[in-house]
Amino acid sequence: MENGQVWRDKKIDFLAIVFAALFAAGSAALSQTTDQAWLRYDLAKRIPVITPLAVRSLGSGLLEQSAVKELNRNLGSMAGRDTSGPGFSARARAALDGQTVVGTAEEVRKAFPDLPVPDDLEPEGFWIYSRPCSDRYNGCGKQNLVVIAGGDERGVLYGVFALLRFSATAEISELHGENLWRGRPAMPIRWVDQWDNPDGSITRGYGGRSIFFEGGNVRENLTQVSEYARLLASVGINGCDINNVNAAPELLDAEHLKQIARVADAMRPWGVRLALSVALASPEKLGGLKTADPLDPAVKAWWAAKADEIYKLIPDFAGFTVKADSEGEVGPSSYGRSPADAANLLAAALAPHGGVVLYRAFVYNNHLDWRDKKADRARAAYDIFHPLDGKFLPNVIVQTKEGPIDFQTREPVSPLFAGLRETSQAMELQVTQEYLGQQKHLVYIAPMWKQVLDFDLRADGGSTPVKETVEGRSFKRPLGGMVGVACLGREWLGSPMAMANLYAFGRLAWNPDLTPEQIADEWIRQTIGIDPVVVSTVEKMLMQSWPTYEHYTGFLGSQTLTDITGSHYGPNIEASERNGWGQWHFDDGKGIGMDRTVATGTGYVGQYSPEVARIYESLDSTPDTLLLFFHHVPYTYKLHSGETVIQYVYDVHYKGAEEAAGLGKEWATLKGRVDAALYDDVRARLEYQAGHAIVWRDAIVQYFLKQSGIPDDKGRAGHTPGRLEAEDAKLTGYTVIDVTPWEDASGGKAVSCADAKGCTAEWTWDGAAGRFDIAVEYFDLQGGAARFVIDVNGKETARWTADGTFPSRRPHGDNSTRLTVRGVELKPGDVLRVDGTPDGSDAAALDYVEVTASAH
Ligand code: GCU
Repeated sequence: MENGQVWRDKKIDFLAIVFAALFAAGSAALSQTTDQAWLRYDLAKRIPVITPLAVRSLGSGLLEQSAVKELNRNLGSMAGRDTSGPGFSARARAALDGQTVVGTAEEVRKAFPDLPVPDDLEPEGFWIYSRPCSDRYNGCGKQNLVVIAGGDERGVLYGVFALLRFSATAEISELHGENLWRGRPAMPIRWVDQWDNPDGSITRGYGGRSIFFEGGNVRENLTQVSEYARLLASVGINGCDINNVNAAPELLDAEHLKQIARVADAMRPWGVRLALSVALASPEKLGGLKTADPLDPAVKAWWAAKADEIYKLIPDFAGFTVKADSEGEVGPSSYGRSPADAANLLAAALAPHGGVVLYRAFVYNNHLDWRDKKADRARAAYDIFHPLDGKFLPNVIVQTKEGPIDFQTREPVSPLFAGLRETSQAMELQVTQEYLGQQKHLVYIAPMWKQVLDFDLRADGGSTPVKETVEGRSFKRPLGGMVGVACLGREWLGSPMAMANLYAFGRLAWNPDLTPEQIADEWIRQTIGIDPVVVSTVEKMLMQSWPTYEHYTGFLGSQTLTDITGSHYGPNIEASERNGWGQWHFDDGKGIGMDRTVATGTGYVGQYSPEVARIYESLDSTPDTLLLFFHHVPYTYKLHSGETVIQYVYDVHYKGAEEAAGLGKEWATLKGRVDAALYDDVRARLEYQAGHAIVWRDAIVQYFLKQSGIPDDKGRAGHTPGRLEAEDAKLTGYTVIDVTPWEDASGGKAVSCADAKGCTAEWTWDGAAGRFDIAVEYFDLQGGAARFVIDVNGKETARWTADGTFPSRRPHGDNSTRLTVRGVELKPGDVLRVDGTPDGSDAAALDYVEVTASAH
């Protein structure tokens, strides 16, 4: 339900009528490149909204034209379907008569003075009306009137999309009676950030190259930009910052701004305003000034002139996003100034034009001294921004990541949301799955976001859930919102299921009271299908996916135990230790975790209100899920569940890997029920994920077994029955190598082939006779596509090419990949052999084969 939605009458008119039988036509193949994701009006069995076919707009505005087009697109999806045929009822036919009208509230009032158009319709809000027809069956169809009115033009468009979404997601087959429906967004700032670079690459993007840039310039063809904007508009997103927060200054030069104006033109029909990330150093780097000091008059004049230039080209320009004093970006500290000085400099330049500044609170020192037990990156945002509260101009919004570190698998909520009372705030979250499996793992993030939005920071002892703060309600701020770092590329997010996250981001920014289940349900029905088995199975998979990912990548609040100085993808437990980046978990032979308490730690806990701080300060009340974020404990420390930390580490990783395999099993039950191409695509991804979950499991389990010296009660850690190590095989051509980090390979070692003609590894099976699955764990390295063959007694069982795209050219948990051949007969004495042929820098490296009893 939309917020603000009003059902005046229990009965609803003919807004949507289901013709399941009629629309059971064949399903279209799902291409993930240029299709419209969830806007699939022709999806098999999708319920079309039946509005009168004569659609017109009362005004001539661009957005109203888009609204008309969208309605026609939906009606057009019925084209070719015989409305006079038996599947089309008299009621449905009658519903197509009359007129569908879109317009702003003002226009509707003028054209239909007798309609009860609400007089308090907010900007971006909408109202939908359908005139009841008392005697539809006897030809009153001509009287049909559906009106979609908007508080402004954007509201018109959002009303149309809401109507179309409603028809696709409603479970009721027929709707009768008068309908009055209102909706409005919960917060004004609903933006996506793209981290696109002028050369066409996208930082932390996993869906191909930029839809905006190539070779240093804006692309000629911006069709995909319009499609993206349409997708964004359909879930109410009204702004898009198109370039990396590590901003390239040249994008602000005259030539690039002209090009960028074309991007704004492509997005404008969908009500998506363009924003740019800017480098504070621009006046120096681009303008040739001697300084970029925020208080320098020449610098102020430079930014004011730049803003004028931008608004001449892009009159509805949304504003600037700023990353400063962070990860090498120049900031106000270089000139002895504060973030407020920097933000206000830009805000003053934009204010006359109605633009805003989103100043990122992601400001921290990445050269911290890890030996200093008081040093704590998590403290940075609050320490820096809290004292500045009240010093920002009204058009500045402080944009804070949801957690105090950096989009980890699990973090506590940033205390800064309760630390700014006189400053508008936006919550930044990541749609692109940087630390969450980079779209190669299924992770539906809405449940995590929802936890953050609902978290009550208890500012001054009162109720201040984060969602009310970013809505501007907690502290009565005029602006506020949510910003989703999307990094979408030419293949959208690069994975069909990942699109649920973009959808969920938009829906939560519109209405943070929606539940992740509701949102999943909506997305599935519009994207995959309405078959109840499909809906419930996929919903279950989505809801399970984040806990599953957490179970095998980041236990008890230790953050994602990944390669934090590199790929942010595979396991690399020590990558976070002993460096200046401050993502330490401080594991040693005795224990693990970072003490952030006030009593004995860094004092970070003291940044929360007393009620919340009390929970985290004490070991007893800290939830297990965040234990190691707040406390350092011995491996033998007992969790609330009664398990020791170390036993939990073992248990949760075996469980996580099993759950990952379970996702694939759930999906397999949908064979024949979903589009075949989608089925195969997702099946392959889940198979890969299940294998990679084992890589994660084994890395973490063998690392902590060694580190703690405490065995697994259940005898699994350190024991790998059925595993035949490559380093123990009879090798021809292959050489044994040490893998770094050691935990990323079974036993720390692998074999690598330097002979272009190929190498072999051979084992003699000495187990019992039977039917087995054989998993081959190999490293799919960048820079080539090595070929592999596995055979038994010289008879080929499988061959494949390692042509995946994974980080790194050297064997690593990033690229350790599993291929399983199922149902192979083996008897004692059989010879198993893997042939690897390198290609380019892909050395056909091999970790092990694993033989397990087969269910096939
Ligand atoms: C992460 C990410 C960086 C990015 C940074 C940011 O650390 O890995 O690529 O620049 O966040 O949010 O600014």
